[in-house]
Amino acid sequence: MSAKLSVNINKIATLRNARGGNTPSVTEAAKNCQLFGADGITIHPRPDERHITLKDVYDIAPLITTEYNIEGYPDERFMKIIADVKPTQATLVPDPPDVLTSENGWDTVKNYDFLVEVIQRLHSMGIRTSLFIETDAKMIENAAKVGADRIEFYTGPYAHNYSKDKAAAIAPYKESAAIATKNGLGINAGHDLSLENLEFFADEITDLLEVSIGHALISDAIYLGLENTINMYKKLLL
Ligand code: PXP
Repeated sequence: MSAKLSVNINKIATLRNARGGNTPSVTEAAKNCQLFGADGITIHPRPDERHITLKDVYDIAPLITTEYNIEGYPDERFMKIIADVKPTQATLVPDPPDVLTSENGWDTVKNYDFLVEVIQRLHSMGIRTSLFIETDAKMIENAAKVGADRIEFYTGPYAHNYSKDKAAAIAPYKESAAIATKNGLGINAGHDLSLENLEFFADEITDLLEVSIGHALISDAIYLGLENTINMYKKLLL
């Protein structure tokens, strides 16, 4: 089975917020991405609302015909969003509110008790839970122990190293994917995936269930059109 493509539409909100008003519309984007073949919509409603606002979260929810993936740090604001909206998946990221983008995976050892409690609460709402994680065996084993259903590999380092040496870039992910699978964890991936580096990642990580892609895909859509771009990404996952 090929991995699912969840389109992260944060950047549509960034563009809209640059001018106020509602152009481009995130709800239209969510509808169109799904119409054009996306298997899911991802958003990251940060507390400062610099891209996706609280209103967006609720406006998009009834338009989802595929999977709704909501990312964020699991504070009480986030937990209320999840309880209200009941997305398909919550992807938990460890970053503080002021960072530009998520660039660290969870320390599942240090945050063991916190994650156990949060994941129990998410499971009691029936929400699949994924932990953003780096390629570290101990962190992955503990992701299983705290009760996560899936991990989302932070693929920033892969993307960064891909053009220099793709075999070396993928190696830690292959090793880590085997550990994840052995521990019963599903595998998602995201960050800096692109038309250039996605196919190799999906071919090499055979248990890959889902990728969430924002920056590169929305940027490509400026030149190539949204429908065409989504089709191009989907083809790389076949
Ligand atoms: N996964 C997580 C946890 C993220 O924070 C982001 C960025 O919002 C992505 C995936 C998508 O990354 P990119 O925008 O580079 O495709």
